[in-house]
Amino acid sequence: METFQSLLAKKLSEALAKAGLPTAGELTPATDRRFGDYQTNAALVLGKERGENPRALAEKIAAHFDVGDLCETPAVAGAGFINFTLLSGAIEKKTLELLRDERLGVAETKSTQRIVIDFGSPNVAKPMHVGHIRSTVLGDALARIARFLGHEVIGDNHIGDWGTQFGMVIYGWKNLLDRQAMQRNPLAEIVRVYKETNERAASDPQVREACRQELVKLQEGDKENTDIWNECVAFSMQDFEHVYKLLDIHYDIQCGESFYHDRLPGVVERLLKSGIAEISEGAVVVFFRDNPELADKPLIIRKRDGGFNYATTDLATVDYRVNDLKADAIWYVVGAPQILHFKQIFEIARREGYTVDLRHIIFGSILGEDRKLMKTRSGENVPLRDLLEEACKRARKIIEEKNPQLTEDEKIDIAEKIGIGAVKYADLSQYRMTDYIFSWEKMLSLHGNTAPYLQNAYVRIRSIFRKAGDAAVATPLWGVEGGTGHRPVATTLTLTEPAETNLAKRLCQFAEIVPQVLNGFRPNILANYLFELANSFHTFYEACPVLKSSEPARSSRLALCELTGRVLKHGLGLLGIKVPERM
Ligand code: ARG
Repeated sequence: METFQSLLAKKLSEALAKAGLPTAGELTPATDRRFGDYQTNAALVLGKERGENPRALAEKIAAHFDVGDLCETPAVAGAGFINFTLLSGAIEKKTLELLRDERLGVAETKSTQRIVIDFGSPNVAKPMHVGHIRSTVLGDALARIARFLGHEVIGDNHIGDWGTQFGMVIYGWKNLLDRQAMQRNPLAEIVRVYKETNERAASDPQVREACRQELVKLQEGDKENTDIWNECVAFSMQDFEHVYKLLDIHYDIQCGESFYHDRLPGVVERLLKSGIAEISEGAVVVFFRDNPELADKPLIIRKRDGGFNYATTDLATVDYRVNDLKADAIWYVVGAPQILHFKQIFEIARREGYTVDLRHIIFGSILGEDRKLMKTRSGENVPLRDLLEEACKRARKIIEEKNPQLTEDEKIDIAEKIGIGAVKYADLSQYRMTDYIFSWEKMLSLHGNTAPYLQNAYVRIRSIFRKAGDAAVATPLWGVEGGTGHRPVATTLTLTEPAETNLAKRLCQFAEIVPQVLNGFRPNILANYLFELANSFHTFYEACPVLKSSEPARSSRLALCELTGRVLKHGLGLLGIKVPERM
């Protein structure tokens, strides 16, 4: 099914051809909806290119435009914009089509790729904290959207389960462990001994040396140290899994750093052989002498003591993802502090001849209400698990006030949907590069651009259908997951009120918005669209009685409600956010 935007774009190129002009400019949604629904700057672009009067060109293009039953005669405005206003008949027809389409009008991408998305990727022996929200939530949303658009996505959790920190963890485990504390909360105790060892090592060279030796023993495969390492990884994974369950995050694979351990010598050897790496002062190093940006930033891939590092692992990872997983693209959803690291990795991959499309998707920080990086009162990172549990607790309060007669099970379920949804939405509704302030009040508000506001719009729609009861039941039509099956069906739609037409137009835009998210990796575009949709719905709901109106308005309006509910549910689903049936 084609969107209005693509239909108009086609008609525009036809008009240009008929007018003897080349294809030019863009066809976009109108910046000011008072003048139309879509616009093109084609005449402006051509005017500039050919030194001709853009307004005259615009008139010429408009005169050749075949409006068919799609839109009114195009209007030339300003310096040479052409505006298009859709006809209600076209909107009605498209809305009916959407009602019958499981994909809500969203076409599959023509050139699909196999994409590995590296997101979340926490480190073992540290609890997941608030800093992990963005990578995890953003990566998951991108994965869901890419999948819906037809790409083959492999979500990979590149867990930091190997590296120098394990020298300290093992030293701490052997020398500082409190067995009782360990039984109460293993991960907290591991974190405690790791931190304490870190502090001791900072001031005591003997401790430092002891840690180094523990690390060497681990790397050599010493049994005792390997067992300790295994246990630490397992305890950490339990914590991660708990968080993933709350967040409804699912990985296809979880190849942590240790997975690549055996491949590292091979990577270094290969790079030495090809001359991309060289030996420098006993270490193996890649220089980027001909790259102005990286010329003074060589990358060590094997240290003088023979140890490998984070970068070596990432080189092995590219190799695995390309050669074993057959990836066409790899997206790294990792914070901005690693920009240099990925520039170096991508440059080496390019030199090795990999043609895989490598993207580093960065993001801003989450700030506390004091506008500084968010911390606990004692200055620590806020554990993600606590934060998510608090979100559910606070959401529960809202439900207790709003709808106290719900059953206990319903309350638990709804609180989770609202609380987790609020945390995710607060993140995804921001442009990813923007720092944002983490505010419970704001994200849990039932008014404004929040998850609870959108969920509430959905709930309102569901309650209309509950009220409509059997009277509204006609032919079964949509196999909506979690839906109630039989729904009223409209075979014709009559849009008379402006609020109806506006809502219908918004619904038709869903298919234009979703594919755009992957341009620049911006789920906020989808979030903001859903917010506008909910606003249009509320305006409609205030202006147009649904159940109390007479036919044919009643069926028409029920159909608009139904489609709005589906788009809200599906759109939020693409962001990883669930909707409750009541709240
Ligand atoms: N574990 C790393 C960290 O916490 C992130 C890993 C990102 N992925 C990668 N392939 N390097 O900083």
